[in-house]
Amino acid sequence: MTAHPLSRRDLLKVTVLGTAALALPLERTIRAKSVSTIAASKIPAPYTVPFAVPPVLAPVRSDAGTDYYELVQQQVVTRILPGVDTAVFAYNGVVPGPTIVANRGRQTVVRQINRLPDRHPVLGYQPWTSTHLHGMASRPEYDGYANDITLPGQYKDYRYPNAQPARTLWYHDHGVHHTAENVYMGLAAQYHLYDPQERALPLPKGRYDVPLIIRDAIFAADGSLRFDDRLHSGVAGDVILVNGRPWPVMDVERRKYRFRILNGCAGRGLRLTLSTGDPLVVIATDGGLVPVPQPVTQLRQGMAERYEVVVDFAKYPVGTLVDLRNLSVPNTVDYDHTNKIMRFRVAGEATDTADDEVPARLAPDNPVMTLPESAATRTRRLRVKKDGAIWTVGEQTWAQIEASNFTRTFAAPAANGVEIWEIENTSGGWFHPVHIHLVDFRVLTRNGRPPRPEELGPKDVVYVGEGETVRVLMRFENQIGRYMIHCHNVSHEDHDMMSQFEVGTGGPDPITTAPARDLPAPPL
Ligand code: C2O
Ligand code: CU
Ligand code: CU
Repeated sequence: MTAHPLSRRDLLKVTVLGTAALALPLERTIRAKSVSTIAASKIPAPYTVPFAVPPVLAPVRSDAGTDYYELVQQQVVTRILPGVDTAVFAYNGVVPGPTIVANRGRQTVVRQINRLPDRHPVLGYQPWTSTHLHGMASRPEYDGYANDITLPGQYKDYRYPNAQPARTLWYHDHGVHHTAENVYMGLAAQYHLYDPQERALPLPKGRYDVPLIIRDAIFAADGSLRFDDRLHSGVAGDVILVNGRPWPVMDVERRKYRFRILNGCAGRGLRLTLSTGDPLVVIATDGGLVPVPQPVTQLRQGMAERYEVVVDFAKYPVGTLVDLRNLSVPNTVDYDHTNKIMRFRVAGEATDTADDEVPARLAPDNPVMTLPESAATRTRRLRVKKDGAIWTVGEQTWAQIEASNFTRTFAAPAANGVEIWEIENTSGGWFHPVHIHLVDFRVLTRNGRPPRPEELGPKDVVYVGEGETVRVLMRFENQIGRYMIHCHNVSHEDHDMMSQFEVGTGGPDPITTAPARDLPAPPL
């Protein structure tokens, strides 16, 4: 814990609620009415704006083994609140960005063109970017290494192997020290990887397979997005957006739907539940299908975690309203309407009854779920904590990695080595969703006990709550080289809760192997 007389935590309480808030017990969730300064009349009532899904991106071209895509990162003015202009950072003009659909065994090349302004319109920093495809075992030079930056006026072609089992991934900005601002401004989207085994299952498909990107936001009086991470504690917005729409309402048919839920918040943890008390049936986690479906009435979801759930609307009569709610998590700032996410309105009978099942067994042979704990050759301990004003992971900060000219590492697992990492959060005042790049891991234990039911699947982010110790098992397969590990509270990550590990020896350098180039770009 910090030795400072007045910690940032305390400061933030002062700023949010006034000095009386200092009397609050440390672990209590803070509540306030709102934080946006835009007129309340400009914020729509929850469940009035129609739901929509992001567009699917078409490839620019395809050849025998590869699909080629192009994305332009640009500042555009859009309407998130009805009738209010808001500047955002978009991929191809939309926020969240277009969904990329990929198939296991076919490669993807994604050209990222940075046409952002030379300065952020409000914050004034230069918006360099580095794009990470979160959930993909990419080579180091295509993994969105924080310092492998693309400046405004440059582009970079990212190559993805798509060699892993089917899953919901997401691509988002990872530019060093500005990930939080860039993601908050809108640089985030889903990426769906399919494989034949998963496609053969009778799970909901097509229009019944729906991405839900949840994030919060703060609107300034002039309608612009206000970035306030409360002295690097984390952003806590009062407006909840799903796929870029405030608390939308979606018409559904009386049948099963699959939802690919991403917590895309910069700093807000979620605990999702249905207003009916009926379960969310977890069918997949970050790394794809779970071995066996897990019905849960509450789903705790830290930032960057993906949970795929099936909801069966067949049991409700037409006209029923089913709300997806947020029960919150400790050490989060809640506002009047952050307990609401979106509404489903059961609008009619099923128009298609194919693929309306949840099989009892989904992916019994997932590599990391069948990896025995006894295969591990070593256990490493890793602390996540605050040292004075700095967030650290494994007693390291990214500033130290930079100062070492990127040679310093927290761990050096052998290529294909199997290890257990024990991640410990001794603080009472913060939770940290810890993300390990490159690998899928299995949660072995949480505080010495079995994992939560929703996390009984392959993962790449794990919620390490207040006072928790989580043990995870993984094989360092697919690639060699240096990869990041960090907290996915992106404000923590930027200041400076990020380190790296190196798999094997002689891997490609993440920064110099495939650097960004100046525009104009040759044809893809
Ligand atoms: Cu989703 Cu290193 O990030
Ligand atoms: Cu990642
Ligand atoms: Cu953190």
